[in-house]
Amino acid sequence: MDKPKKVKVSVDHRNGNHVSEERYGLSLMAMAMKGSMPIEFDCKKADCGICILRVKDGHQNLSEKTHDEKDFLMAMKADENERLACQCRVFGDVHFINEFG
Ligand code: FES
Repeated sequence: MDKPKKVKVSVDHRNGNHVSEERYGLSLMAMAMKGSMPIEFDCKKADCGICILRVKDGHQNLSEKTHDEKDFLMAMKADENERLACQCRVFGDVHFINEFG
């Protein structure tokens, strides 16, 4: 049996960069819950915006925006590179900037 594919998730925080190797297709929320990805969550349903991240590279490796995520980001006048981490699954290497954390 093939080993599950791994992806590299990198986040630039104000106090430094965090890099983690994760299972293909895992959600950012699952990474945070198992302690490998320091991202803050609150509502977990595209309602509060605390988990917003800017995608520096690899946006094509993220799941499509959910309907709720699109609605929230449009209301916030967010730009195309901003995503809600609570709504994202990762299918390839990606590099984020956390401008608030
Ligand atoms: S945790 Fe509230 S929008 Fe993501």
